[in-house]
Amino acid sequence: MIAGRVSVRRARPPDAERLAEMERACFRSPQPHLILHVCGFVDGFLVAESDADLLGYVLFTPSSSSQARVMSLAVSPDYRRQGVGTLLMRGMLDVLRGRGFESVGLEVRVSNEAAQSLYADLGFQMAGVERGYYDDGEDAYLMEKNL
Ligand SMILES: CC(C)(COP(=O)(O)OP(=O)(O)OC[C@H]1O[C@@H](n2cnc3c(N)ncnc32)[C@H](O)[C@@H]1OP(=O)(O)O)[C@@H](O)C(=O)NCCC(=O)NCCS
Repeated sequence: MIAGRVSVRRARPPDAERLAEMERACFRSPQPHLILHVCGFVDGFLVAESDADLLGYVLFTPSSSSQARVMSLAVSPDYRRQGVGTLLMRGMLDVLRGRGFESVGLEVRVSNEAAQSLYADLGFQMAGVERGYYDDGEDAYLMEKNL
């Protein structure tokens, strides 16, 4: 269980190693180098924190002047199913609305029903399929939400 209040804040450089480790623990094809390179140096990188422990993160970026894209969302296995992923996504949506973005999109593995449910609960809708999107050949669903 999560002890204490969960807050969402911008990632900072000292978070990098812990977040790269989380990326390795959470994904079949992790990109820890991406995390290490951008942590603390981009606006679109939020972490969830409780009692100084990092619980998860969301990384997002503009894909055009009006659209943004979610690049990664992960919650540490110890803290799942307690609303942390939802909190991070809501934090991201607030940032994007504040910056005047009109929509946000993402790719999700067709097998990743947990993430698909989370996104659907937040109002994301299926927008297509990208065949062989992942390194191992799995397809991705494209999901989008108007802001
Ligand atoms: C997907 C992930 C980010 C969800 O984080 P989380 O903090 O556990 O999510 P939440 O607690 O906010 O869950 C919100 C909703 O998503 C759905 N959901 C989350 N995990 C689920 C699971 N294991 N099985 C089914 N539905 C699930 C549920 O609808 C849930 O609402 P509920 O708990 O009221 O039923 C987390 O499981 C994770 O890091 N997975 C590995 C990395 C990953 O797949 N990232 C997404 C890449 S596109």
